[in-house]
Formats: sequence, structure tokens, C-alpha cells
Amino acid sequence: MPNRESNWSKNSWKNFPALQQPTWPDEQAVERVLEDLALLPPLVFAGEIRSLKQQLAQASRGEAFLLQGGDCSENFSQITAPNIRETLKVLLQMAVVLTYAGGKPVIKMGRIAGQFAKPRSSDTETIDGLTLPSYRGDMVNRAEFTPEARTPNPKYMLKGYNMAASTLNLLRAFTRGGFGSLQRVQAWNQEFVANSPMGRSYDRMAKQISQAIKFMETIGISAEAPQINQTELFTSHEALLLQYEEAMTRVDSITGDWYDCSAHMLWIGERTRQVKGAHVEFLRGVHNPVGVKIGPSYDLDDIKRLVQVLNPANEPGRLTLITRFGLKKVEKALSLLLREMKREGFNIVWSCDPMHANTYTASSGHKTRNFNDILSEITCFFEAHWSEGTVPGGVHFEMTGNDVTECTGGAHNILDEQLSANYLTTCDPRLNAEQSLEVAFQIADMIRS
Ligand code: PEP
Ligand code: CO
Repeated sequence: MPNRESNWSKNSWKNFPALQQPTWPDEQAVERVLEDLALLPPLVFAGEIRSLKQQLAQASRGEAFLLQGGDCSENFSQITAPNIRETLKVLLQMAVVLTYAGGKPVIKMGRIAGQFAKPRSSDTETIDGLTLPSYRGDMVNRAEFTPEARTPNPKYMLKGYNMAASTLNLLRAFTRGGFGSLQRVQAWNQEFVANSPMGRSYDRMAKQISQAIKFMETIGISAEAPQINQTELFTSHEALLLQYEEAMTRVDSITGDWYDCSAHMLWIGERTRQVKGAHVEFLRGVHNPVGVKIGPSYDLDDIKRLVQVLNPANEPGRLTLITRFGLKKVEKALSLLLREMKREGFNIVWSCDPMHANTYTASSGHKTRNFNDILSEITCFFEAHWSEGTVPGGVHFEMTGNDVTECTGGAHNILDEQLSANYLTTCDPRLNAEQSLEVAFQIADMIRS
């Protein structure tokens, strides 16, 4: 195996073990798709990525706060204008709550426009004696349990690119074209949320913001300023499928640096973050901001090496560590990590994913998460940072703008037996719009204090 000092190239990851990759039936067909992808225009631009990195540098110092959220896995069949709009709405609502009630600029980032590949605990799945490849996300195969659907098809990578492009096209229109204007803050409240306790709290806050904008206009300050009239949404996904990520990687003509132009930020999952693994090798060479998920069984020296490999220049904003320890383990596991990373002097954006280690099976058989556990992990996250003198820089959610019943609890106290009412996810359970808003109000209190 080559050592780390050897030069990086966009395909040097191939010299390292790559976990969680599909077994394609026809390698030549894959090569043809990758050649096509490599010629297509970038989905995001290096200038945008650099701007994000600057904002994340602010988050590492406590001058901004990262809000990252969206589906566990996007499905091609769910990519419709209303779904994209509802996800955007709830992200904008959460962000405005965090900005107004929490008093900090918020970096808005979707798990969107490319979150199509999923790591799985097993390569295969067996039902009634039939063993088929596991479903690895819409960019690889289909979820139905038939041999045809489960056979990885490289054309889905091209479809994924096209789906990401059309999602981004709409997001750019919404965020630049007035829908994301703060003048519309009251209109972001969805009908089914408006009459809930959270919807009413939101409405009161939105009215105050509208009045403040009117007041500004009355005294002659224009509400046409981009800070009011436009908004900025960054995209992110797990950089899992390395052939796709490599094909989307381009040299920036201004700086000569490499960027993975499939999304503004990419993260490495808990299952693929081996220091000597292909995912770390690939991401160490691109100049995007990079995230790494860290679960409770981490090894401290391993994390130190990981930080050094991914961010050798200790550049602020380059590296976000997304901790997902679960309510039971967060207190001990997080404090130790924060203390040691602080001692090393590493510049890190610390983000809390309160979802992935709080999953359990409900009595109804659904995979779920409880709202109180999610909130408690976030509270422990803030408390650990306060006591260690480090900066709680952001949060990472699986959430949707729709009225689903996938996580239990919250203001409406969804019970196990109510989960089946509108359980739509094909992967992990998401907070619904009302639960998302509720968690945002709670976080705002913690940011302010
Ligand atoms: C995810 O974010 O969907 C995921 C698989 O997370 P993790 O790598 O933390 O398990
Ligand atoms: Co998930």
C-alpha cells in the first residue's frame, strides 16, 4: 500500500481499500457512464465552495451556526417540486428561528441534491430463502426485492446526476428569486403546522420580523438588499460512491485546486472513515469542506490521525466532525474527544447528529427515534462544549417538510402505534416539519445562552 506522502490524484483512492462499493455486473458499462459524467458540467462551483468554507471557519469560532438537514436517502420518485419546496421551507423556518431567537447567522445546508448512496450493514439481504444484493440507494439499485431491481445499474449514477441538477435548479430559483426572501417569512409556515403550538410560536416570531422589516423600510432602508431578499442554501451528501465522486471532481481554473463539484460539502460516514481507507484518501485531496461522522466506539489516536490527514494545514472551516454518540454514551464520549482535540489545537467545526445513534425498533415494528432522546443528545452536546470551553458549531438532522409519522414524541407526542399513519421513509426515520421546528426553538435557546 502506498504511504500517505505519495501524491494525491483524483483516482489515488483506488490504491486503498474501498468499503461499501457496489458490485457492478458489467465494468465496461460503468466506465462508459463515468466517461459521460466526467464531461458533464459541475453541479456546484468552486467559488461557492470557498464561500462555504469561510462561513464554516466562522462556525468553528462560534460566529455562525451550521444547520444541516434533509432526507436520510433521497429517492428519485420523490423528487418533485412540492417536496423540494417543503424541505426548503422547513430548513428556512428552522434557520430563521435559530438566527432570530438564537442570535447567530446560520449556514443552511441540505442533505439534498445528491444524497443517493447508502452504506449498509450487509452486502446481501435474505428473505424467504432468496438472497439478493442489499439496496444501496437510488444511485446504485432499486429497493424492491426482485433480482432485476437489486442488480446495480450504473445508469442510475447518470440519473442521480440529472436528479441532483434539477433539484439544484429549483433550489437556486427559490433561494434567489424571492421565495427565500425574509419578506416571505410568514408564508413559510405550512398549513398543517400553522395551527400547532410550534406553528403559532413561529407565526408570532415571523410577525415580529415582518414588522422589523417594515420599520426599516419606513425609515428609508431598502428591503431589496440581498441579505433580506435572497438566501443561500448549500448542498451536501455522503461521499460514498467513489467512482461517481471522482467523475465529478474538477480543477478550478482560478486556483488550480481540485474540487469535488457534486456538492458543496461532502462527508465520510461512520462506516467508511478508516484512516487508510479509500474514502479518506479521496477526500483528503479535494478542497471542499469535509465532514466526518464519529460514533461512540472511536479510537482517540485514530481520530487524531484522521484530522491530520484530512486537514494537515489546520485550516479553519475545512473539517467538521459530526458526533453521533446516542443519548446513553454522549456525555463521556464527547467530553473526552473535545478535551483531546482542544489540547491538540485542531480547528474543528463541531456538529451534533442526534439521529443516528438513537434509532430503535418500536413495538409496532417500525425503525424509529424518540424526539426526547434527540433533544437530550443535543442538550448534552451543548453542555459538554460549555464545560470543555469548545464551540458547539452546528447540528445535523434527518428531517422532511412533510407531515410524516416516523419519529415518536414531540409536541404532538406521536406514539409507537401511530407510526404507521404516515411512515414514508425508505431508510431512516425523519423529524417531520413540526418536530423540526420544535427542535429549532429549543436549540435557539441553547445558542443564545
Ligand atoms: C447517514 O448520515 O445517513 C449515515 C449513514 O450516518 P452514519 O455514517 O453516521 O451512520
Ligand atoms: Co440515516
